[in-house]
Amino acid sequence: MIKIAPSILSADFANLQRDIEAISTADYVHVDVMDGLFVPNITIGIPVVKSIRPVTDLPLDVHLMIDRPVRYVEQFCDAGADIVTCHVEADTEENIREAIEKIHARGKRAGVVVKPRTPGSAVLPFIDKVDLILVMTVEPGFGGQKFMADMMPKVAQIRTYIDALNPDCELEVDGGVDPVTARVCVASGANVLVAGSSVYKAPDIEARIRELRG
Ligand code: DX5
Ligand code: ZN
Repeated sequence: MIKIAPSILSADFANLQRDIEAISTADYVHVDVMDGLFVPNITIGIPVVKSIRPVTDLPLDVHLMIDRPVRYVEQFCDAGADIVTCHVEADTEENIREAIEKIHARGKRAGVVVKPRTPGSAVLPFIDKVDLILVMTVEPGFGGQKFMADMMPKVAQIRTYIDALNPDCELEVDGGVDPVTARVCVASGANVLVAGSSVYKAPDIEARIRELRG
């Protein structure tokens, strides 16, 4: 089954509860955390995760676009994250491994993320230890960017790794996903679709979530 993870980066932060309730038919709430260092933008952090935890029953899928995430993963777990993903580019292999272990020790799901210029093989050191792999289909940092169709061979490559090495692992894509590009992602092997602007700019959010699911 295809899962939809609307990104609240495109929500109205002054009406976050309303905008999270509006996506109750989705599967995950995607939370984009940026530190102004790993990416050239600053968004939301631990207190906001804590505040939104009680307003939804959906799992919180927390995408950490921060430098050396091992420093903060436990705090995000304790704030209510259900899935915590770390960029493989954000620290050494050893420290990313330690971050995954810390997330699992808190009873939460852990994932790794690859930026567009990072090869698919970069997930191999972690593939048997993670519950989710996220492939960026835009440069991380901002919502509303154009979908990079040239990431699809990487999605397909990671799908073959997952099927061979960890079939329960989810494969997520993030960036520029709309009802048209969603089909391309699914055809390449993705099963979780993050969508920010295409969900929140839609005239009918529920209908858009159904459309994305296909
Ligand atoms: C980008 C974020 C995405 C972003 C997606 O750095 O990781 O989750 O919100 O937004 P859209 O769907 O508008 O490209
Ligand atoms: Zn994201």
